[in-house]
Amino acid sequence: MTAETLTAVVTGAASGIGQALAEALHARGARLVLADVNADALSTTAARLGATGVVTDVSDPAAMHTLAAQAPQARLVCLNAGVVGPSLGAPWEVPPEEWDRVFAVNVSGVVNGLRAFVPQLLAARAPAHVLITASLAGLAVFPGGGAYGPSKHAVTAVAQHAAMALADTPVRVSMICPALVATGMSPEGIAPALVADDALRAVDNGVFAVVPAEWQAAVATQVDEIVSGRQPTPPAPWPAG
Ligand SMILES: NC(=O)c1ccc[n+]([C@@H]2O[C@H](COP(=O)([O-])OP(=O)(O)OC[C@H]3O[C@@H](n4cnc5c(N)ncnc54)[C@H](O)[C@@H]3O)[C@@H](O)[C@H]2O)c1
Repeated sequence: MTAETLTAVVTGAASGIGQALAEALHARGARLVLADVNADALSTTAARLGATGVVTDVSDPAAMHTLAAQAPQARLVCLNAGVVGPSLGAPWEVPPEEWDRVFAVNVSGVVNGLRAFVPQLLAARAPAHVLITASLAGLAVFPGGGAYGPSKHAVTAVAQHAAMALADTPVRVSMICPALVATGMSPEGIAPALVADDALRAVDNGVFAVVPAEWQAAVATQVDEIVSGRQPTPPAPWPAG
């Protein structure tokens, strides 16, 4: 993919990591089609970056097909939009409608994006890339977090499945699994621009997953607990920070 001619789509582009992805792609000279459910914030971001803004709820399959129809030249599709619900307790403490909404945005949002975009990416018979924003909470299980962590585990599974299914095609898949990032979703964490830079480097280099170095051992430890039959324990960064 040549940066000057790249057309890229970013969902959840009006804030946080999505906005940082849009800014980084704009700096590379990409043509941008930006999507978000927040019309006002989207319009501000799109105007600033000279982008096309398409108000889109990623949980709506028809809206995602409309978005794809507005970006027929897209060669990079960033399925990034996501939400965390207000209930951050144990699974039984999260109301049913919140499970449904978090899964509708985080999981169905990605699936709807794949269903809308992958056929047209394949039909173009040219190199293309799908970048999925998962989360560290989709690889390691943290106590609390409500429906968010389980939804992100589904996202990492969908991303892995998509990567396997597309292995013999010109379409690559990458996923980013950040820990805390300072965005509308989290008051603390690293700058979203750092996450966007890592994400685009992974796309450039065909790397499948970006997982923070200090959390990689914790992810492996939890898998080891499962396969060896031990009780699960909360993950911790290493070296402890
Ligand atoms: N902030 C973190 O600590 C963190 C860590 C790991 C992963 N993530 C993931 O990063 C992604 C982006 O989140 P962020 O941290 O930038 O948060 P954010 O709240 O700053 O941005 C999310 C954007 O998605 C939009 N959005 C929400 N629901 C939508 C929908 N149904 N359709 C379209 N757009 C919708 C919001 O309007 C917002 O502009 C999410 O998938 C999130 O789960 C965030």
